[in-house]
Amino acid sequence: MAAIGVMTCGGDCPGLNAAIRAVVFRASDAGLRVIGINEGFDGLTQDKTLELTKDKTRDILGRGGSILGCSGSNPFRDDPEAADATVETFKRHELDGLVVIGGNSSMGTALGAEKRGIPIVGVPKTIDNDVEGTDVTIGFDTAVETATEAIDRLRTTAESHDRVMIIETMGRDFGWIAVAAGIAGGADIILTPEEPIDVDSVADTIRVRQEEGLDFTIIVIGEGATFKGEDQQFGHHAPGDRWLHLSGVGRALADRLEALDPERWKLTVSVIGHLQRGGSPTSTDRILASRFGVAAVNAMLEGKHGNMVAIRNGQMTLTPLDQVAGKLKAVEPELIEDARSFATGV
Ligand code: F6P
Repeated sequence: MAAIGVMTCGGDCPGLNAAIRAVVFRASDAGLRVIGINEGFDGLTQDKTLELTKDKTRDILGRGGSILGCSGSNPFRDDPEAADATVETFKRHELDGLVVIGGNSSMGTALGAEKRGIPIVGVPKTIDNDVEGTDVTIGFDTAVETATEAIDRLRTTAESHDRVMIIETMGRDFGWIAVAAGIAGGADIILTPEEPIDVDSVADTIRVRQEEGLDFTIIVIGEGATFKGEDQQFGHHAPGDRWLHLSGVGRALADRLEALDPERWKLTVSVIGHLQRGGSPTSTDRILASRFGVAAVNAMLEGKHGNMVAIRNGQMTLTPLDQVAGKLKAVEPELIEDARSFATGV
């Protein structure tokens, strides 16, 4: 083995650069050259690459985003020409393996590459924490930290003005961030995609709190949540884009509460959105990303490609890519149960 590639796929998150740096450090120490691929699989299809060294990556540990850029492209889905070009670039650079840092759908793309003869080791990342086969993903801890700080800040103004404060967090399919930050930030109501929203019951909780003399209420809602009896997420399509950019369920909840509201609650909506994806990773994410990067190169050196590095029950391990691809990990029932001690809705 003489050289490996590394790429970051899907949406960015804090900790990607820490993972890239770890791959470069561990691989360089093992005598391997490392080629960085720009913008996920697009960079392999279009041959956009750069040589990475310890010197080039020494200072990126705490930097947000990805020095390589990100994309969610999948050349293996329905474009045979792109698939061939991707494999060709890999061969032209005389690479022996590829570390793919990505979320659920990128692990599917990675499996497609593995099937075309590109030895892959995956590294799970996404602020959503919904990658199957690992207890935790790079970026989740930082996103929860950011969302918790937002809730803390919004709480003091909610208390001062007797407001019902609705805070919309990210989380496309599951409510990991909403539940974790909801617990950490002391939310009174937590709403997630797991449990369709019952507007009457949200209103009841606000009323009961008011009867108890608590004139403010903190509602944390995951962006992917839907209303009871409906199956529609809220968001918009950018021109020419099939992907639904989620946002708006918090406002929709406020509108529905307002319509019900005889007493005129003071409703305020804050969508914290991409703030959760940006910025410097927490120390927990830096450590996780560094360990995943080292483990990925170790797996590659041991010939254990076709796997994703993972943490399960506190142990570093490998999960086969075909057990990850196309699957999503819902919030653990135990975590939801614990959240119910503090908040309704969840
Ligand atoms: O998957 C991570 C994530 O941050 C989701 O929580 C969110 O729905 C999505 O990416 C946002 O992506 P985009 O910026 O493309 O709308």
